[in-house]
Amino acid sequence: MKIVVAGGTGLVGRYTVAAARDAGHEVSVLSRSEGVDVLTGSGLPAAIAGARAVIDVTNTTTLSAATSTEFFETATRHLLAAETDAGVGHHVALSIVGIDGIDAAYYAGKLAQERAVAAGDVPFTIARAAQFHEFAGQLLAQQRGPVAVLPKLLMRPVAAREVGEHLVRVAEAGAVGRAQDLVGPRDEVLVDVARRQLAFEGARRRVLGVRLPGAYGRGLASGSLRGGPDALRAATTFDEWLRSEDRPPGA
Ligand SMILES: NC(=O)c1ccc[n+]([C@@H]2O[C@H](COP(=O)([O-])OP(=O)(O)OC[C@H]3O[C@@H](n4cnc5c(N)ncnc54)[C@H](OP(=O)(O)O)[C@@H]3O)[C@@H](O)[C@H]2O)c1
Repeated sequence: MKIVVAGGTGLVGRYTVAAARDAGHEVSVLSRSEGVDVLTGSGLPAAIAGARAVIDVTNTTTLSAATSTEFFETATRHLLAAETDAGVGHHVALSIVGIDGIDAAYYAGKLAQERAVAAGDVPFTIARAAQFHEFAGQLLAQQRGPVAVLPKLLMRPVAAREVGEHLVRVAEAGAVGRAQDLVGPRDEVLVDVARRQLAFEGARRRVLGVRLPGAYGRGLASGSLRGGPDALRAATTFDEWLRSEDRPPGA
């Protein structure tokens, strides 16, 4: 079937596109670099024509609740309108495990996205995944100097490759409203995985953990992002991922 991957040039998007092609699907990649903008709607009808399912893995990199909410609500509104016009039978949205009750910062936008998808006319599945193994490296790369400061975050990180494969299976299965959460195989703490990544890469930087204030900080430190006992457990541990070809060069 034809599957559209909105955000298919991004981190998890590239794995999703590859998994869909490996499974024999026709894939249309939707991103600004491919001439389609989910915030304006430009290029959407042509990109979506003939699709049976749309997997939304678009993203914005903001910590502002207002900016995040604006992005995910607008993107979802434009995608669902184009999908309704094209008769698409399944909208799959990737969200984040355990964010209920953390209606702050970036997660406010993800919760708004979930609400918009659920209120729409297109049959849907919200598929939540835990933080990717790449997350620690992304945060480390945002900071310069010998000391990096990271939030206290209890997590069960998961390989983005396995999230992409999961999303294709979810798209194939048809709309169920809410998919089983997908988390990684081991309980981890962000500061520890960041230190292991730096040691593996031979980088001489120190990592300090701080507890962030407010609802966001409380949520990160609460353990809720690790998901519950019913979550699907992916196979690849953080340390296996570190040694794999999926790890991007030097954080
Ligand atoms: N990172 C994590 O640990 C984690 C965990 C669970 C769930 N998630 C979710 O996974 C999703 C994807 O995250 P990611 O890290 O893979 O994202 P990413 O690498 O930042 O990629 C974002 C994608 O969205 C596209 N995009 C951004 N703005 C767009 C626009 N206006 N119109 C069309 N396309 C646009 C980008 O392409 P262009 O720039 O070319 O437009 C790119 O393909 C997010 O929704 C995130 O919440 C992430």
